[in-house]
Amino acid sequence: MPRRLIVGNWKMHKTATEAAAIVQQLMKLVPEPGNVEVVLAPPFTALQAAGQAMPIPHPFILAAQNLFWEDQGPFTGEISAPMIKELGCQYVILGHSERRQHFGDHDEGINRKIRAALRHRLRPILCVGESLGDREGGRTETVVTGQLLRCLDGISKDELRMITIAYEPVWAIGTGRPASPAQAAAVHKTLRATLASSWGPEACKPVRILYGGSVTPENAGEFLVSDQVDGALVGGACLDPQSFAKMIGLAQNVAG
Ligand code: 13P
Repeated sequence: MPRRLIVGNWKMHKTATEAAAIVQQLMKLVPEPGNVEVVLAPPFTALQAAGQAMPIPHPFILAAQNLFWEDQGPFTGEISAPMIKELGCQYVILGHSERRQHFGDHDEGINRKIRAALRHRLRPILCVGESLGDREGGRTETVVTGQLLRCLDGISKDELRMITIAYEPVWAIGTGRPASPAQAAAVHKTLRATLASSWGPEACKPVRILYGGSVTPENAGEFLVSDQVDGALVGGACLDPQSFAKMIGLAQNVAG
């Protein structure tokens, strides 16, 4: 089984100064991430401060929450792969449902963003997930596999190993109402089968599938014990260092 991954998506929270303080607290609470890969995704403006708050080599890996697919140019307000790469990012979250919902991100654009990330050796964390209407209408599998295949269109077997998938049901994000571990495991299984049928079982082995949506220290263990769940993408609960440290601890215990 690939190394477990716990990602904190800070969304639009915390200034650079606040981010540095959180990273320092987290380092005290988690002196050694050990067998778990811990990724922090603060806002763009806090990436540098978060990096500078850590010794080298960094105990926690940095991620950006988005990028634009061009490297540079007249794209006011956008941020490119080389820019976040220089700040020390190794990962980038792409296709988050909040970006799809509020900022018009769509599968074809997300595909271009994934290709841009890969060109610069950044590891994309691709988010997929169904709305409540999709789930109630029995369309969960069709929706998530459609997103997966469109966003990963044209990706080679070699590139696939750089990809992480996050299954985040839209109805579970920020609602305090997570999917059940069984629901998550079922969708993860479908995603894995889809990857295997398109790229072959060997090529998709290193691809980790995370669950995200109202993950807390209270429920994280139930997801992480499943051999279908390679880690968690945590929103709200990652902003409290104590809570985030607890979830990292749970992942460390499961990973053994
Ligand atoms: P919450 O953990 O706040 O539900 O957010 C999940 C999420 O969107 C992580 O990307």
